[in-house]
Formats: sequence, structure tokens, C-alpha cells
Amino acid sequence: MNAHVEALRRVPLLSSLEDDELEGIARAANEVEFPAGQVLTQPGATGTGMFFITEGEALVDTKRDQVELGPGQFFGELALMSSDAKRTARVRAKTPLRCLVLDRASFRSLVADHPEVAASLLEVALGRLAENAGVGDA
Ligand code: CMP
Repeated sequence: MNAHVEALRRVPLLSSLEDDELEGIARAANEVEFPAGQVLTQPGATGTGMFFITEGEALVDTKRDQVELGPGQFFGELALMSSDAKRTARVRAKTPLRCLVLDRASFRSLVADHPEVAASLLEVALGRLAENAGVGDA
């Protein structure tokens, strides 16, 4: 559990939270491991979890680009923020990957209990959607 709290402390999105709050999230999360190459989300599939990467690298294939995510970063939030719960991109493990996963109920508690986390999450999520839509391209 301590290792999970340590890992969550390195997540910029959660930097405003105190140790006891991180402990609550660590208790709610499940640790999962994936081999390199495993596909974790497929566009259009129903999403049930948000993933915080604790070790390894993931690759996001958007319609326009390929984005690499590593420790301290997260993915899978968009399906949990939308009413249809659909994944927007393919994510796969580039290397062996370890993540802490929050289910929809724990995700809801996180954003309900911590408005500052919700605000940062919104900023990241909107940035990703805008990037995928090409907003701001010349
Ligand atoms: P979700 O749609 O639930 O599942 C696929 C995930 O890929 C998505 O949530 C985001 O977390 C992530 N994602 C989509 N587009 C981008 C992007 N442009 N940059 C980084 N991550 C992205």
C-alpha cells in the first residue's frame, strides 16, 4: 500500500492531495500489470477504468498522432467523463506496464471530493480532445 501511495505522490494531477487522501485513493485502486504490446483501450469500446501509470510506457494512437505516456501520467479518463462511456483512442503498452486503476465509482468520488483535481483533470481532458480534433492547428 505504501508503494502505491508513493507512486500516487508522483502523479502531478494529485499533487494537491495530502497523504491520507492519497491513501484513500490507493485503497480504492487496483494494481494491474500488462506485457509490452497489450492493447488496453480500443476506440468505441465501453470504458470502465482510469489508469495511473506507475512503471513503463504506454502509446496512445489518436486519429492524428501517437502520444507516449509514462510514470505519473494517466489515461482512460475521457470515457469516465462522458455519458456514453466510449473510449476515444487506442492505448497499448509500449513496454511492460504497471498501473493503478480506478473504477467509475472511485473516479466519481475522487472528482466529487477534490474539486481542484476535477479542475486539473478537465484541463488535461480538454487539451487532449482539442489536440485530437486539431484545434489550434495552422
Ligand atoms: P479514453 O477515451 O477513456 O481511452 C483512451 C484514452 O487515450 C483517453 O481516455 C485518454 O486518456 C487518452 N488520450 C486520448 N487522446 C489523447 C491525447 N491526444 N494525448 C494523450 N492521451 C490521449
